[in-house]
Amino acid sequence: MSSSKSSAQGLAAVLQVLRDAGDAISGERLAAQMGLSRAAVWKRVHRLKAQGYVIEGSPRRGYRLLAVPDKLLPEEILQGLKTRSFMGPVHHFETLASTNDLAKELAARGAPEGTVVVAETQTGGRGRLGREWNSPPGVGLYISLVLRPMLPPVELPQITLTTAVAVVRAVRRVAGVAPGIKWPNDLLLNGKKLGGILTEMETESDRIRHVVVGLGLNVNNPGFPVELVATATSLTLAAGGAFSRVNLLKAWLEEFEELYGRFLNQGFPEILEEWKRFTVTLGRMVTVRQGPREISGLALDVAPDGALLLRTAAGEIVRVTSGEITPEPARGPGV
Ligand code: BTN
Repeated sequence: MSSSKSSAQGLAAVLQVLRDAGDAISGERLAAQMGLSRAAVWKRVHRLKAQGYVIEGSPRRGYRLLAVPDKLLPEEILQGLKTRSFMGPVHHFETLASTNDLAKELAARGAPEGTVVVAETQTGGRGRLGREWNSPPGVGLYISLVLRPMLPPVELPQITLTTAVAVVRAVRRVAGVAPGIKWPNDLLLNGKKLGGILTEMETESDRIRHVVVGLGLNVNNPGFPVELVATATSLTLAAGGAFSRVNLLKAWLEEFEELYGRFLNQGFPEILEEWKRFTVTLGRMVTVRQGPREISGLALDVAPDGALLLRTAAGEIVRVTSGEITPEPARGPGV
């Protein structure tokens, strides 16, 4: 199911009146407050119920909002969202192969910057380096955002690093814990993977035509398939309790809009400083795998363009722009 901005806003407006009313509100008053006919109000309430909102309706007392579905619905995301330009449209689906795939299609057909694709589950969620992204229903965030920066393609890594900073800020705001960033953009808690970012772009001559930023975040996963148990975690597992996926998503959009605006207007240096404060990579011995090739060394720094700088055992400084890094186990005396 997908929702246009205006239809989502129409439903969001009814929800707002129901929420503000607190208790029941008559169909007549609801209609008057919204400047709609009672039949139009009934239709909207009907659509909200079909999405899982529990709304009691009695001819005597009127309408009362009893429960909100635990879904990433456009009405919930847009409600109270404090962004200025990332305002949707929000396309929500129960199941998709990959939110990035659909967002790329929409972007190629002209979808504006700020277009959001979310799914409750993905059947073909993709990670970096051709990996799968485990996407069970209703517990994680699987979101893709369309961007249209007027930038050359070489600046893409900086957008990716910026995205990761926004995730750390959002998780800290909503869940009170700050994940670490493993270069370039893996989010870790207790040394295990909490989330990841897949940034894809389309270019024309020497500029970016559009970018799709895909974020996968393990939020309320009670556990993981056996092959991931040792390496993956969720907010629930690492921090305890259940977290609102809607609030996390909204916080990420708000933080990312602020950082992305700063990146476009003032460049990358300040954001890179913040990225460095959150990273768990720098100062460690790491091995980078790039297909069959492996380079090991001390992760010295990140260059202004987002590349990782490694100092190898031979003292050579190597720039790494892609690949998977693994920290080397700490060596104790006599090991
Ligand atoms: C990684 O760590 O390798 C990146 C994982 C990115 C997963 C997200 S989930 C939403 C979006 N759709 C996809 O198919 N992938 C990204």
